[in-house]
Amino acid sequence: MARVLKQIAIYGKGGIGKSTTTSNISAALARDGYTVMQVGCDPKSDSTNTLRGGQYIPTVLETLRENSRVTLEDVVFQGFGGVYCVEAGGPAPVSAARAAASSPPWNSSSCSTCSTS
Ligand SMILES: Nc1ncnc2c1ncn2[C@@H]1O[C@H](COP(=O)(O)OP(=O)(O)OP(=O)(O)O)[C@@H](O)[C@H]1O
Ligand SMILES: [Mg+2]
Repeated sequence: MARVLKQIAIYGKGGIGKSTTTSNISAALARDGYTVMQVGCDPKSDSTNTLRGGQYIPTVLETLRENSRVTLEDVVFQGFGGVYCVEAGGPAPVSAARAAASSPPWNSSSCSTCSTS
């Protein structure tokens, strides 16, 4: 019988149990004999570490920043039950207060729209 690829996306607001639920679904599916790949898309890169005994793996983006060529061996690591784990990575989260306090990315003194004089 042909093997069918199924993709499941789990998303939602912060702290609702996405990572916990996801890693348990992956573990259960692997136990049932499925080949499972879990791709974490959280800049904290923590969704796969429960499958790897608390160990973090290098993210795709940080690996790409260091090497122009990235192989599967660089970014795919097996965890509980043989689940293939990948972390996409991303910019570190910035608090709303810090983002509001930071300077704008343009030179406001040379911007006529922003001029207050
Ligand atoms: N079913 C559950 N019952 C009780 N506590 C839970 C349950 N699922 C997750 N938790 C707890 O809730 C907290 C948040 O869970 P988790 O990290 O999985 O959420 P998350 O949605 O991935 O968070 P984030 O958005 O920060 O990535 C953790 O302390 C976790 O142990
Ligand atoms: Mg999470």
